[in-house]
Amino acid sequence: ERDLCLTIVVAGASGDLASKKTYPALQFLHHNGFLPRKVAIIGYARTQMSDEQLRTKLRPRLKGSEKEVDKFLEGCTYVSGSYDGSEGWQKLAAVLEAREAKHRGCPCGRLYYLALPPSVYPQVCTGLKTYCDGLPSVEGSWIRVVVEKPFGLDLQSSEELAEELGKLYPESQLYRIDHYLGKEMVQNLFVIRFANMFTAPLWNRNCISNVQITFKEDFGTQGRGGYFDSFGIVRDVIQNHLIQLLAMLAMEKPLSIHPDDLRDEKVKVLRCIKPVQPHNVVLGQYTAADAQPGYTDDPTVPAGSKTPTFASVTVFIDNDRWAGVPFVLKAGKALNERKAEIRVQLRSTPHFVFNGEPEAMRNELVVRLQPDEAIYLKLIVKKPGLEIDTAISELDLDYRQRYPGVVIPDAYPRLILDSIRGDQQHFVRRDELRAAWAICTPILHLIDAGALPVHPYPYGSRGPPEADELLARAGFVKNSRY
Ligand code: BG6
Repeated sequence: ERDLCLTIVVAGASGDLASKKTYPALQFLHHNGFLPRKVAIIGYARTQMSDEQLRTKLRPRLKGSEKEVDKFLEGCTYVSGSYDGSEGWQKLAAVLEAREAKHRGCPCGRLYYLALPPSVYPQVCTGLKTYCDGLPSVEGSWIRVVVEKPFGLDLQSSEELAEELGKLYPESQLYRIDHYLGKEMVQNLFVIRFANMFTAPLWNRNCISNVQITFKEDFGTQGRGGYFDSFGIVRDVIQNHLIQLLAMLAMEKPLSIHPDDLRDEKVKVLRCIKPVQPHNVVLGQYTAADAQPGYTDDPTVPAGSKTPTFASVTVFIDNDRWAGVPFVLKAGKALNERKAEIRVQLRSTPHFVFNGEPEAMRNELVVRLQPDEAIYLKLIVKKPGLEIDTAISELDLDYRQRYPGVVIPDAYPRLILDSIRGDQQHFVRRDELRAAWAICTPILHLIDAGALPVHPYPYGSRGPPEADELLARAGFVKNSRY
């Protein structure tokens, strides 16, 4: 790997995603010595800009001392060109080839990172494929293309996009990012489930009553309303991030950790899920409260928009392991807190011989993705004292306390590194994407047609109360606190 001549092309380099996510992630990798010695990062976009102008734009986003930042930026250059046509791509190809010619004999890797809206993916991929596909014939050379959601608006449009891209790049060269798969605790799910003895025998409908997968943000769409409005929360968060978590939680143990073994199992479990039923959905949209604007107060949101900013949906997995167990997927913006967590609630203990209310005390395994990564297990214990009384308490693994000073990398550097290493384990395969869309598409069509009620909820609240009813119907019991 040290010998690799790596060129990373950031298409869309002048945009927001590139400066907020892509370049900082690359800098993290550079700073921590994860990029090969022979690396260059070439920005490509329509905006006319010099290398220096790009660097000035990126500088405020990068971390570290001035010297470190400058060292990284030295390796960042810029080529401007349009996404259609040939001129820009030919210019880029010339830069790529000249660089690789300097390292004659070395294997060359090219990572084409598309920090762009999917509407231009076909154009960009066509340009790259047509003009920038000439690699030196040295063994170990490769080209990979990294893309990120939204992949279409529903099953059909996603399939059309996949079909178009598939004609240009085979699955083995396409890296579809779902950044949740790059999160520490999401990768940990795999280990928690399959490396421990105590999880396996409990992990089924006999012991588990219900599962909640929750994503909450304490801010609204803030300036992203224009983008958000044509998608809504189901496409923005549930169809991808939460369904991926669901797959990781519910899949069978794969044959091995080979990326395709893992993804085979994810696809299998996703295909056992029937499309979301309208009676299992609660939608909401936030309204102004406490001097915070409502969703439709955002000037980039069309007046009177009914796009949901909150959704709670219950799905069921029709297989031997999970039949009848509700999985409640909840996602919302402008809520009371920022949190992403998974809560697995077990059934009540039968024949409870102690004092206390067994119905209000259930074991739970909680995996908190963010903020403050943690795993905790709710356990029924003896209340300290002379009496034999019971209470629910917590076995708590808080990552900041248990691993002080350990830096938990963000999702993007991890995933970019995987793509450089050619590991597709944490990337979404085409059939996975299809299965995830199949679950959400019918309900999305109903939402788009305005056929489902959208309940208002105040900015900063817990969301519409109707969502609590949905959760109660799923059999969730709120544990009494000790
Ligand atoms: C993105 C969504 O995919 O994920 C955003 O488009 C959302 O709306 C974001 O805010 C959340 O990511 P994270 O890593 O901050 O939880």
